[in-house]
Amino acid sequence: MGVGNEEVKILAIESSCDETAAAVVRNGREVLSNVIYSQIDLHTVYGGVVPEIASRKHIEKINQVIEEALSQAGMKLEEMDAIAVTYGPGLVGALLVGVSAAKAISFATGIPLIGVHHIEGHISANFIENKDLEPPFICLVASGGHSHLVVVKGYGEYEIIGRTRDDAAGEAFDKVARAIGLGYPGGPKIDRVAKEGNADAIHFPRAKVDENEYDFSFSGLKSAVLNYLNGCQMKGEEVPVADVAASFQKAVVEVLVEHSLHAVEAYGLRKFAIAGGVASNSSLRAAFDAECAKRGIAFFHPSPIYCTDNAAMIGAAAYYEYRKGIRSGYDLNAVPNLKLGER
Ligand code: KG4
Ligand code: ZN
Repeated sequence: MGVGNEEVKILAIESSCDETAAAVVRNGREVLSNVIYSQIDLHTVYGGVVPEIASRKHIEKINQVIEEALSQAGMKLEEMDAIAVTYGPGLVGALLVGVSAAKAISFATGIPLIGVHHIEGHISANFIENKDLEPPFICLVASGGHSHLVVVKGYGEYEIIGRTRDDAAGEAFDKVARAIGLGYPGGPKIDRVAKEGNADAIHFPRAKVDENEYDFSFSGLKSAVLNYLNGCQMKGEEVPVADVAASFQKAVVEVLVEHSLHAVEAYGLRKFAIAGGVASNSSLRAAFDAECAKRGIAFFHPSPIYCTDNAAMIGAAAYYEYRKGIRSGYDLNAVPNLKLGER
């Protein structure tokens, strides 16, 4: 089995939120298949993810998605060196579907099981297309549930130096999108509509958190947008949707860029990466591209398909755990609020 110079092939499973996903990844960086069944259409009518519906759909889809991942990779289950699965953080019922499937496959075949932290997966998505990227580097993780600034000290070694005090960046995108009538999921919709708007039309606040310069706060910005919308309604004015989207997005992007690059400079690391659903935002990517080039910082980012939830990133993270000899037992359980760096 794959140690040393041998090939390590991992079947990875991800079901923490509303994507049922499976992938086959070779040596942590080569994606042989990446199958994602997105449930977005099912949840759109409710304006957000409904946990019970997510769990039910995961159960319905998981075996099919796993079979598809193996078939697209042209491989058989017996050829796998490990079965990796996200076991937290996320929705407990959703996580349990992936964890149960992975445990059943591992138990039936004897192939080792590796439980993976979802955020570790997001960070590791950067290894897939950046073959030369190695720790240490700083990574901004901005997803629907998290906004973390992380020092990636080594493979699987993390120090969180900044986090959100209230809403995650993706959550702010989703809430503002709902308020301006764009619906769910908000991030991609604001991204698209903002292109038609003037980002300097409305000045929304950029929150600073006094006690920790790397922490984020987005609830004040969200309230400012809601106040602005109320103001429009009271004056009987039409809401300039594209301008609100562009101005809100600019405020989020500015704070994320400023805090992140401040950390990169302060820690003396010249490598910076982004991860998570919000990392697929076109304006955020352009801003980091420009600012990192100006400051001589190497900037890494996954393709959008590896930014939002997928299983290839779980396979990438699992590879480095595998190399360290980390394996999970059959008592592996879903941990909805699992902390980064904990096992
Ligand atoms: O990482 P992810 O797929 O799931 C979580 O682990 O949370 O992130 C989903 C979040 C959602 O809040 C979604 O609105 C946001 O990422 N998102 C975006 C974009 N695409 C997805 N936010 C801004 N711009 C985008 N293009
Ligand atoms: Zn995620």
